[in-house]
Amino acid sequence: MGQRPNIPNIQQKLLRWYRKNARPLPWRQMSDPYKIWVSEAMLQQTQVNTVIPYYFAFLKRFPTISSLAAAPLQDVLKAWEGLGYYSRARNLQKGAQHVYVNYLGRLPSHPEDLQKIPGIGPYMASAIASFAFGVRAPLLDVNGKRIVSRIFGKDFPEEILRTLAYQLLPTKHSSDFNQAIMELGQTFCLPKNPRCTPCPVQKECAAHQKGIQNEIPSRKTKPERPTRRNFALLAWKGNRFLI
Ligand code: ADE
Repeated sequence: MGQRPNIPNIQQKLLRWYRKNARPLPWRQMSDPYKIWVSEAMLQQTQVNTVIPYYFAFLKRFPTISSLAAAPLQDVLKAWEGLGYYSRARNLQKGAQHVYVNYLGRLPSHPEDLQKIPGIGPYMASAIASFAFGVRAPLLDVNGKRIVSRIFGKDFPEEILRTLAYQLLPTKHSSDFNQAIMELGQTFCLPKNPRCTPCPVQKECAAHQKGIQNEIPSRKTKPERPTRRNFALLAWKGNRFLI
């Protein structure tokens, strides 16, 4: 693997950079688990700037888990109108109903419990646990995977990435560190042509040192589609067909 990146330096530099430069997004600097859940559901397939006005409007209409759980589905879909991928809205309401019934309307704090709620997968469970409850859980969405792979200098398989991501996460301020990784993935450490010059951890990044940042993640070649041949026999007489 070559030399191991200096993890304490990376933690310190990323936290400092995040605190100085982070955009003041509405779901940052607060820890209401429900509001963080709504933000993560909206941000799953939609960009930050598009989400912001919907986020405020949605929370105004459904300020609590119980208000969302009890609302007519049509109202929930209406509040989601324009964001697309409506299954997110349906799942969010199903999840709210589940939390209302099984957890007295309060989200649990542990990723394993969060994952049992409809619509909450591994990434979202870790994000809520980290941002709302300060649980030390690495976030391995596409951004997280790309950044950890680049810092350690190889397109590692998922299981190894998980271990490395955990090692990278500081014991203190892990929630801010996760936000910092997201911020880095949306600003400098982009999928194509990453902007390494202004990156706060350029010196520590193994991919940058080897000059292979553009090769991580490697482009997966799609398996060739198999050609399938089918035959059909068509016979007709007058206006009657036989297939
Ligand atoms: N994308 C997903 N979650 C996010 C968050 N908390 N902040 C910025 N972008 C995100």
